[in-house]
Amino acid sequence: HLEEFIILKPCFHISVCCRETINKILQGYSTTWKRQEDNYQKFRSQLNSKCHGFEKAIITQYNTPVGSKIWYETEKKRSVQITPDIFSTFIKLHPFSNETKETCAVVGNGGILSNSSCGQTIDSAQFVMRCNLPPLQNGYENHVGVKTDLVTANPSILRDKYGSLMGRRRPFVTNLQVYGSSLLLFPAFSYSFNTAISLRAAYTIEDFKSPSRPIYFNPEYLQRLNTFWRSQGLKEVRLSTGLIMASLALEVCKEVHLYGFWPFTNHPYDLRNLTNHYYDDIQTKTKFHTIPDEFALLLRLHSQGILRIHLEDCP
Ligand code: CDP
Repeated sequence: HLEEFIILKPCFHISVCCRETINKILQGYSTTWKRQEDNYQKFRSQLNSKCHGFEKAIITQYNTPVGSKIWYETEKKRSVQITPDIFSTFIKLHPFSNETKETCAVVGNGGILSNSSCGQTIDSAQFVMRCNLPPLQNGYENHVGVKTDLVTANPSILRDKYGSLMGRRRPFVTNLQVYGSSLLLFPAFSYSFNTAISLRAAYTIEDFKSPSRPIYFNPEYLQRLNTFWRSQGLKEVRLSTGLIMASLALEVCKEVHLYGFWPFTNHPYDLRNLTNHYYDDIQTKTKFHTIPDEFALLLRLHSQGILRIHLEDCP
């Protein structure tokens, strides 16, 4: 179905063909979703044996001692040696390996969440994962919720919004308050230019006594995940944050619910125009990601009862 799906993409800006196109995309999507335990167990153990996210997605003091080297995810010949100072910012033990969560909500940033009234439903999950420090206040809370157990923080946000934390750092810490004591996940070892800025964020959190808990992706996990999704038919250069979070959730949680995943310009039910994000209309860099192709794969998992994608507004 993937090829057919790709051919359909250009149609999205022409509303006359929308209904037909959306129906094709949603073939196999059922709102009366039923969890299929066997499929879930099979997929989860496949993912775990290939990627080891449950035990190794995050750099810890236990798996990365002082003096060891971390190899960058995208720069094959570059590594960083772990000094006591860097080591002191690592979490002690792996945050997921002691228990499987019952229900996880993975919240993508799609415009489909605008006016969805899904805030309460999202917040009722045991573990809520969000992407790229999204805004949660000023009216968004009813639609996206506020509970946050883990939120990713892309260093590009620190560059664009907080002057790379080279000047005043308080605005960054103040804006973190909405996420409470959640885990703040940085891709610190994906590119070498991510490291210093992620460490500055961790030092800032410590210096200002913020309750946020910074953690870093293990670049080995991200590489393995890339290989895994390629083996499932994905051809893109970089996985999107949403797919990485959904993958991690599939290893860490029994029931995975996705909200805010709909990378198209029209709502699937009433065809209303949607912004790209629920908080702005800045477009995703398609040079690196092909999020509609990822969505096709996630829909496959939905129809197999492995995870559940929510496209409908909440009661
Ligand atoms: O980091 P990235 O640019 O991939 O993400 P984002 O734009 O901040 O959105 C977070 C995630 O939500 C994405 O990685 C996608 O998986 C998902 N998303 C979606 O499915 N549909 C949209 N219209 C926007 C985001």
